[in-house]
Amino acid sequence: MAVSRTPLIAGNWKMNLDHLQAVALVQKLHWTLKDADHETGSVEVALFPPFTDIRSVQTLIDADKIPFAFGAQDLSAHDSGAYTGEVSGAFLSKLQCRYVIIGHSERREYHAEGDDLVAAKVQAALRHGLVPVICVGETLEQLEEFGASAVPVSQLKAALADVPADADIVVAYEPVWAIGTGKVATSAQAQEVCAALRAVIAESLGDEAAARTRVLYGGSVKSSSIAGLMREPDIDGALVGGASLLADEFAAIIRYQKHVGV
Ligand code: PGA
Repeated sequence: MAVSRTPLIAGNWKMNLDHLQAVALVQKLHWTLKDADHETGSVEVALFPPFTDIRSVQTLIDADKIPFAFGAQDLSAHDSGAYTGEVSGAFLSKLQCRYVIIGHSERREYHAEGDDLVAAKVQAALRHGLVPVICVGETLEQLEEFGASAVPVSQLKAALADVPADADIVVAYEPVWAIGTGKVATSAQAQEVCAALRAVIAESLGDEAAARTRVLYGGSVKSSSIAGLMREPDIDGALVGGASLLADEFAAIIRYQKHVGV
């Protein structure tokens, strides 16, 4: 059972919401959870706004003492210098980001990010005290050709190559065929791959790391599917895209413990 790991519900806003809309959504989400008497602490909530929103989100969360963590959707593998358009992990940690998403399939696909660059970005995150949320997942073609676990397992092995055993990391299994398609993996399918990923963590970083590291599922997660996913022993939370833009729906996902037993 995943009892010793605090569940993590993460909202990846992708390229949606300007900084004013971001502030409105964070406030609405906070009020919605408060109105529902949500017990903070039972689940960690993390938000991943676009870079241009992070300062506004940080200021609001700080001022109103809102119990949400936040992070960026990407970072540079470099620390500083002539890399036009890139954002350093140093800047993100200065903004009190706790997390950074690395290797999301949209980065891998549209920005040609391969395993080497993903591994370099994981190192950059760790250098700057950020927790990398390492995303792995297979396309439909890869699923048909290699089966469910092969591609995510090899992506994760590459990403963890130089990671020290005591590093704080999060892993997210996001089958590409389930992202933004409305086609959520079944709980059993997701569990099978998440268990294989935990075995990779054990092999690469040791049993203690495997026991404490959270493995998330992502891909068309909704309030109607989260409870079933969270009942699985190797699924410790979700990386939510589309549904994280809707305060009521995301709040219902965060409150899955209210309906997990049903
Ligand atoms: P989705 O996106 O929930 O909209 O499918 C998930 C993700 O890409 O992280």
